Amino acid sequence: MSESINNKKPRIFSGIQPSGNITIGNYYGALKNWVAMQDEYEALFCVVDLHAITLKQEPGKLRAKTRELIALYIAAGLDPVTNIIYPQSHVRQHAELSWILNCFTYMGELNRMTQFKDKSSKNEANINAGLYTYPVLMAADILLFQTDIVPIGDDQKQHLELTRDIAQRFNHTYSDTFVVPEAFFGKVGARIKSLQEPTAKMSKSDANPNGAIALLDEPNVITNKIKRAVTDSVGEINYTDKQPGVKNLIDIYCCKTGETAEQAMNKFEGQNYGFLKKEVAEATVEELRPVQEKFYQLIKDKKYLDEIIKTNSEKASYIAEKTLRKVKKKVGFII
Ligand code: TYM
Repeated sequence: MSESINNKKPRIFSGIQPSGNITIGNYYGALKNWVAMQDEYEALFCVVDLHAITLKQEPGKLRAKTRELIALYIAAGLDPVTNIIYPQSHVRQHAELSWILNCFTYMGELNRMTQFKDKSSKNEANINAGLYTYPVLMAADILLFQTDIVPIGDDQKQHLELTRDIAQRFNHTYSDTFVVPEAFFGKVGARIKSLQEPTAKMSKSDANPNGAIALLDEPNVITNKIKRAVTDSVGEINYTDKQPGVKNLIDIYCCKTGETAEQAMNKFEGQNYGFLKKEVAEATVEELRPVQEKFYQLIKDKKYLDEIIKTNSEKASYIAEKTLRKVKKKVGFII
């Protein structure tokens, strides 16, 4: 089934929502892994604006954030010529396949989605149907491209499992139609925690601005946020779940250096929290500096970005249409 069987590179698909400012959680949990994987795979990296409107968005801001995120993908090191980088709303097949897959997904399955429970409890005034069927759209994103591997952070694991279940159900009902995708998680960075509440994940929508480091935060802002990060009263650096704040800082450090926690502990053992924070801040600033520099060059060139969006959306649409036609035929539509 997989196109990789025909000597083609296996395919990866992943995406980030253009809602809010993307964080080092998104960067270390997803984007940095994409950059490392891009040469070995045929890759599609989507800016998932259809997903973003499940929460209220201001139109002008959403448009700006979408273009910004395309620029950030490139600034982080993704090649827009060899990879397909595009906004989801430019490829109408996402929404079409999503409808069809809605009819192959049970409400019982969606009721179990922890992210829906979490997001609806935080947005009681706007629990819309899109928020509820969001995981089906995510399944459509992935299955549309016969994706082999989906590099994501830990919080998307349940959605990926549902995607696999939907693919298997469809394949079983008709005949092999979709590649059943596998998740890929990085060794470190799959779950970066909030700096202010180190048992919760770092999130773009964190109400406390000190909880998350945005990719475009200035060096002094990064340093101050890390200085203020919540630790504990143990007063000793250990890599343990009993000290989640300290553990998170070590993880963030390792994301930059590529070291294991054990290796990093050689440096931090016996030191104080001030030293740890200084090292983590320097490492983070150093990691983000070239990304920010490239971003500010790219974002000035709207024409270049819009050209990338246009050509890449066409490429994505071409691949997507092949799957969609197959699906439509199987379910019994005249094609
Ligand atoms: P989103 O926009 O919330 O996050 C984008 C990616 O960043 C990862 N991530 C994290 N990783 C580590 N630590 C964190 N604190 C952290 N926060 C976020 C996420 O796991 C994700 O990989 N539903 C998805 C977007 C999506 C998608 C897809 C992903 C839509 N369709 C198809 C893959 C394939 C989402 O809301 O991600």
